[in-house]
Amino acid sequence: MDDLQKIHDAAREDHVPIMKDDGMAFLLAYLKEHENIRDILECGTAVGYSAINMAEVRWDMTVDTLEIDPEMYETACRNVKERGLQDRVNCYLCDAAEFQTDKIYDLIFIDAAKSQYRRYMEHFFRNTMPGTVFIFDNLNFHGIVDDPQLSDNRGTLQMTRKIRNFREHLLNDSRFETVYYPDTGDGVAVAKRKKSSSFEEQSGKQ
Ligand SMILES: C[S@@+](CC[C@H](N)C(=O)[O-])C[C@H]1O[C@@H](n2cnc3c(N)ncnc32)[C@H](O)[C@@H]1O
Repeated sequence: MDDLQKIHDAAREDHVPIMKDDGMAFLLAYLKEHENIRDILECGTAVGYSAINMAEVRWDMTVDTLEIDPEMYETACRNVKERGLQDRVNCYLCDAAEFQTDKIYDLIFIDAAKSQYRRYMEHFFRNTMPGTVFIFDNLNFHGIVDDPQLSDNRGTLQMTRKIRNFREHLLNDSRFETVYYPDTGDGVAVAKRKKSSSFEEQSGKQ
């Protein structure tokens, strides 16, 4: 069995919430179609499955990936090294919302704490340029975002309310051209930063 498939299967078996297969296929197809994408930032490494997949699309890509959980981080570092990608996939053990860099990314994939998506987007806006794309997963959260009756867990309902507010905000954010794919992965949005000059657009005000 291919090593990447082993990482996938082990993650599923250990209930590590790696991206759904069709979401992953969508992300990789997007990267293949957009050959200008070289530098990627990922919030939420887990065991490195999506980071490795992305880095393997083209040899000249780099992926900086952020993980808060030390055990996940250790596993991801090991997987990345076993794949021989340690020069192009940089794993960081940190809270994504605290990560500081001057690097400008072509694509920022947000797949960490669901309630913090807006915070991550604003935090990393300074690491974008016109044309940079944010991709967000889990904007559907197992359908609960649009149908709260699917859950009676208070924490889940609070979180899905935040996701719904974020999704609405994103779709109306004039800094981005956003397309939402409700049936891909767990609800994926692709938000491309527009060319802009006005203060309102720079600051995200509507
Ligand atoms: C959905 S999983 C990531 C899956 C991974 N992108 C994949 O598809 O292979 C989310 C990960 O984000 C991590 N996480 C949660 N909050 C975080 C934070 N504030 N900063 C960095 N990572 C965080 C979790 O520990 C978890 O491993």
